[in-house]
Order: sequence, then C-alpha cells, then structure tokens
Amino acid sequence: MNNTCSEPVVVVTGAGSGIGAATALRLGGQGYQVVCADVSPDRSAEVAEKLIANGGRADAVPTDVTDGKQVQQLVGRTIGRFGRIDALINNAGVGSVGSAVEVDEAEWNRVLSTNLTGAWLCARAVLPHMTQARRGSIVNLSSITALHGYPRIAAYSAAKGGIIALTRQMARDVAEHGVRVNAVVPGTVHTPLTQGLWDGGGGFGGSAATVDEQVSAAGAGYPLGRLGTADEISSMIAFLTSDAAAWITGQVHVVDGGRTAIG
Ligand SMILES: NC(=O)c1ccc[n+]([C@@H]2O[C@H](COP(=O)([O-])OP(=O)(O)OC[C@H]3O[C@@H](n4cnc5c(N)ncnc54)[C@H](O)[C@@H]3O)[C@@H](O)[C@H]2O)c1
Repeated sequence: MNNTCSEPVVVVTGAGSGIGAATALRLGGQGYQVVCADVSPDRSAEVAEKLIANGGRADAVPTDVTDGKQVQQLVGRTIGRFGRIDALINNAGVGSVGSAVEVDEAEWNRVLSTNLTGAWLCARAVLPHMTQARRGSIVNLSSITALHGYPRIAAYSAAKGGIIALTRQMARDVAEHGVRVNAVVPGTVHTPLTQGLWDGGGGFGGSAATVDEQVSAAGAGYPLGRLGTADEISSMIAFLTSDAAAWITGQVHVVDGGRTAIG
C-alpha cells in the first residue's frame, strides 16, 4: 500500500518546549504534518495534541537523539505513517554552565552528545529518504555562543560551533541531490534551557542576583533592548524550511536582536 500523504512532513526534535514547540506549532499552522520528537514524552504529546486540536496531523514519538537506535526508529515510524520526510529541525538541546577548566568529562560528553552528535544522528537517518526524493530541508540550531566568546559556557559553545561546521559540510555533500542544510543562530530567548543557565549562574546577566534581574540585564545588552522570543526564532526556521528559501543552503542565519552586530 502506498501511504504517502500529500502534505509535507517535518520532524522537530526537542518539540516539547521553547523554540521546538513554537516551531512545531508554526509549521503545523502552515500545513505540515508534524512529528514531535522529544526525550520528554509528556511535553511532546501535549504539543502534538495541540496540533491535532487545531485540525492538523501530528505524531509524538518519544526519542532520545543521543541514541542512534531510537533515532532510526523515529525515522522508520515517520516513513511508515506518513510515507515521506520533507524537513528535519535539529532543535533538541541542553544547556550547560562551566568554563573549560570547570566542566567535567561526563558533562562535556552529555552536552556534545545531545547538541552535536544528536543532530548528526538525526541528519544521517533522514538524508537517505530526502536524497532519494531529491527534496528536503534540514535546519540545525546553533547559538551566538558559537560566534563570540561567552563566559563559562565551554561545552555548549563547542557543540554549537560544531553545528555550524557540520551544517556547511553536509550542505556541500547533499546539494546535488536537491537537499538544503542551514543553521539558525539564535541570540538569547527565555526558555527552560536559559532559565537553567541563569539558575546555575550562567553569567548572562553578570552579577545580577535574581533571574528577573538577569533577564533584564541580558536584554539591555541587545541593540533592540530585549531578549528574543521562541516564536521569533521559529519564523526564521519556518522560512528556511519553505520553498521560499529554495536557493539558500550551507548558510548561518543569525536571529539575535542585533547582538552580534556590536561584537
Ligand atoms: N533559548 C536560547 O536562548 C537559545 C539560544 C541559542 C540556541 N538555542 C538552541 O535552541 C534549541 C532549543 O532551545 P530551547 O531554549 O527552546 O530549550 P528548551 O529547554 O526549552 O527545549 C529543549 C527541548 O529539547 C529536549 N531534549 C533535551 N535533550 C534531548 C534529547 N537527548 N533527545 C531529545 N530531546 C531532547 C528537551 O526535553 C526540551 O523539550 C537548543 O538546541 C538550544 O541550544 C537556544
């Protein structure tokens, strides 16, 4: 039986929270069938239920992106149910506080395996389907910490720098097969991930005492005078996923309220 559906299908990792949830909801609103993959089954199920309640088709697939077997099962289930994968949003990520001296090996490996290896495992699993279809878009989430030296965030910055290199490299390999790969580089957005960094003294807000003070101090460092929102990041992700970006690949797209413009 050919069960290929007519609407495009996107897999969003880390879809249960923050930027991933905003992206899943935005793409669902644009007619995508959305596969919400997250290590937290409850949160991704909640987002999938919202998409279905809004009249879309969605699936929640509990997935730990650091586990190659679970990633293959995610892709197998998506192909089995929808018959196609048009886009992958490599968004799952964890934060981490610590300088290169402070961070221990377990933490380094946790952050690299989630934020970098996980993106590679997901890309490796979807690319054969995309190249065979001669169509597809992968969007990888990096961070402005990959572009500038930020204090006490060594493992995270290294992983996000790796994402930029992997994006450019994969884009080169798959362009001839009609597949595009881009990176989105957000500035700071207040989500559970950054909340954890502030709680752990991530240093975004200097010596400010409370999280509210740190958020406000961090926002003041942005030319546009505030932090971003998950929705503002999801609009760039959705653009890169769409055919409006058909001639854009291997690029690094900064969405940061002007933060990197001032060094
Ligand atoms: N929030 C920011 O300021 C900011 C800035 C730059 C980049 N980013 C990047 O954007 C992405 C989303 O961040 P966010 O702020 O929305 O974070 P978040 O904490 O709100 O959401 C991250 C999601 O990823 C999931 N996740 C974590 N480990 C996973 C794993 N092993 N397998 C599958 N899912 C897993 C979590 O359960 C969570 O639902 C991350 O890659 C992050 O590094 C965020």
